[in-house]
Amino acid sequence: MTCEETLILDGAAKSKEIYKEIKTEVEKLNKEEEVVPRLSIIFVGDNPASASYIKLQQKVCTKVGIDSKVVNLPKNISQEGLLAELDKINNDDSINGILIQLPLPAHIDDDKIIRKINPSKDLDSFHPYNIGELVIGGDAYIPCTPEGVMALLDKYKIGVKGKDVTIIGHSNIVGKPMALLLLNRNATVSVCHIDTKDTAKYTKKSDIVIVAAGVPNLITADMIKEGAVVIDVGINEVDGKIVGDVDFENVKKKAAAITPVPGGAGPMTIAMLLKDTVKSCKNMLNK
Ligand code: GUN
Repeated sequence: MTCEETLILDGAAKSKEIYKEIKTEVEKLNKEEEVVPRLSIIFVGDNPASASYIKLQQKVCTKVGIDSKVVNLPKNISQEGLLAELDKINNDDSINGILIQLPLPAHIDDDKIIRKINPSKDLDSFHPYNIGELVIGGDAYIPCTPEGVMALLDKYKIGVKGKDVTIIGHSNIVGKPMALLLLNRNATVSVCHIDTKDTAKYTKKSDIVIVAAGVPNLITADMIKEGAVVIDVGINEVDGKIVGDVDFENVKKKAAAITPVPGGAGPMTIAMLLKDTVKSCKNMLNK
């Protein structure tokens, strides 16, 4: 495998195809049902990375015709205050999807908030009901990043059945649901994390490596099997530049396919958020 043959998995281009499909669906809902899908984003405080991510989400929502509203709450809001705000949105029938932007301030107990999200609007699949559905292969919400990775693999017709896959990172938002999605499609999955003794032992034998650790250059060429598929979910800022968790230039020389950062897994995450907002809107109309 030479560098020239490596397939670059272009999430930016593939997400645009999905936006087009969503826009058509939204126009149909506007015309036939006289409804506009609505997303509510709860943003506590003023974390600059979260603020710019929310701006991007809203820009894309506007493009496809989804109405998005940010509920920006002060960073010193009490747990009870936040729960009261969430309750209003949970019970507002005009809102189809809720996204609680993480991280929440340290004094807020994330777990208590997550358990109070209306599961039928829980686009992130934070609520135990939705993540439980994923365990048994049910049709509930799937966290947007792993859902986006699966959609990207599907777009490029990269099958996972019977493949050896290693995931690096075992977060509730990415690593764990990623493992479940792959298991549900009969991949053989290993999950490595910060306490794994020898991550390379797993990655070296894997057909697909998915990394979501938040550590630049964590995955180097010597850790990858010739011809593997490498999906980089990391987003890190190094010297003012956004990079992933993979040593892209060197790993690219060995991989059959690889995602760039930015422009790989990231845009697919937002595409899934929009898709799931429309899905919720249809569910609420019983369509
Ligand atoms: N912050 C970083 N990633 C995510 C995500 O996937 N969902 C939410 N709600 N917040 C995040």
